[in-house]
Amino acid sequence: MHPATGLPVVAMVGGGQLSRMTHQAAVALGQSLRVLATGSTESAALVAADVQLGDHRDLDALLRLAEGATVLTFDHEHVPTGHLQTLVDAGHRVAPGPGALVHAQDKLVLRRALAAAGEPQPAWAEVADADAVAAFAGRTGWPVVLKTPRGGYDGRGVFVVHDREQAEALVGQHGTLLAEERVAMVRELAVQVARSPFGQVALWPVVQTVQRDGVCNEVLVPAPDLDEDLSAAAQELAIRIADRLGVVGLLAVELFQTEQGVLVNELAMRPHNSGHWSIEGARTSQFEQHLRAVLDYPLGSTAMTAPVVVMANVLGGDAAEDDWAGPVLDERVHHFMAHWPDVKLHWYGKGQRRGRKLGHVTALGTDLAEVRARAVAAARYLADGVVDPAFAFPDGH
Ligand SMILES: Nc1ncnc2c1ncn2[C@@H]1O[C@H](COP(=O)(O)OP(=O)(O)OP(=O)(O)O)[C@@H](O)[C@H]1O
Ligand SMILES: [Mg+2]
Repeated sequence: MHPATGLPVVAMVGGGQLSRMTHQAAVALGQSLRVLATGSTESAALVAADVQLGDHRDLDALLRLAEGATVLTFDHEHVPTGHLQTLVDAGHRVAPGPGALVHAQDKLVLRRALAAAGEPQPAWAEVADADAVAAFAGRTGWPVVLKTPRGGYDGRGVFVVHDREQAEALVGQHGTLLAEERVAMVRELAVQVARSPFGQVALWPVVQTVQRDGVCNEVLVPAPDLDEDLSAAAQELAIRIADRLGVVGLLAVELFQTEQGVLVNELAMRPHNSGHWSIEGARTSQFEQHLRAVLDYPLGSTAMTAPVVVMANVLGGDAAEDDWAGPVLDERVHHFMAHWPDVKLHWYGKGQRRGRKLGHVTALGTDLAEVRARAVAAARYLADGVVDPAFAFPDGH
């Protein structure tokens, strides 16, 4: 509890944009997020008042972070599971707990758990050598998707391999891997569900995520033209997983939609890129809901504030770091605001690097094609200064 306010203190491991936006939600609840960041210029470290610098793999840093905090939670999956158990054994509240979180940390652990529960997922195998990959490909056909069980994000740690030779090189480099069939998918979907220790759950509509090179570019809400039965099935699947694993906080279930239904790709147990739209697009954002859930507060309404919401990420382009900073960026924000007064900007305060998530924009409306075009054009303009001809600035900018 905070001595001045009498309100809880939530500590979050990780100082990225998820932590930054959770801090923003914490402020409205009378709180201030305590953040463990690796550097003072990380997104959340730039804005939160209670920042500790340290490494998420350092048990002492984690123990210091937890000291006096009501509950400890995460903006990424990379804390060693053993450290989390040590924190729990020392009497600290950790949400989600290590027994749940390991399913978002380790893709092999998740595959085994889903198999045991009989939930739909791609054909998979644990592979430790090229023979095993070739045997798996004998059943599913090449190419095969190989994944590092731990530590991947934004498509890093995901490899499409076309033959035994490529597989051999990867297994040689990484050791035991998860092999998956390359799913012939219609599209990718995601479901966000929040679950509190009390057992209350709250869901947002099923969304469609649009990935490019393994990185999320756009989120369309609700998932366009999604069959009602399939939507309900996806939501029920997410609730079953949250309940079975005892998740506390936000759970994002990434799904592949196929001709037959949906398959579970992976889980995230924290606010997730597929839920950023909810800041403006829902009565309760995923960030506020995550705080409510980890604190065992009653959950907020997830009703949408508009019929259609589109979120587009601003991904770093080719600009050199020097060109990006200072006047160029400021001027670009100025033009963005002038041209898209109806699109909301979330800027993460990060330096420019190719492919890096620098921010996102959210557009609301009624017509999917119009809302999507607006969000994508605005995000693209922020990323590289290129104006879609359909949205040309009247004064030629
Ligand atoms: N078995 C598969 N078949 C086809 N495409 C796949 C498969 N697995 C992954 N992909 C593609 O690669 C993307 C990244 O995979 P995955 O979500 O496992 O990796 P990640 O790096 O952990 O992701 P994230 O960016 O969500 O952290 C998926 O969103 C999907 O587009
Ligand atoms: Mg993913």
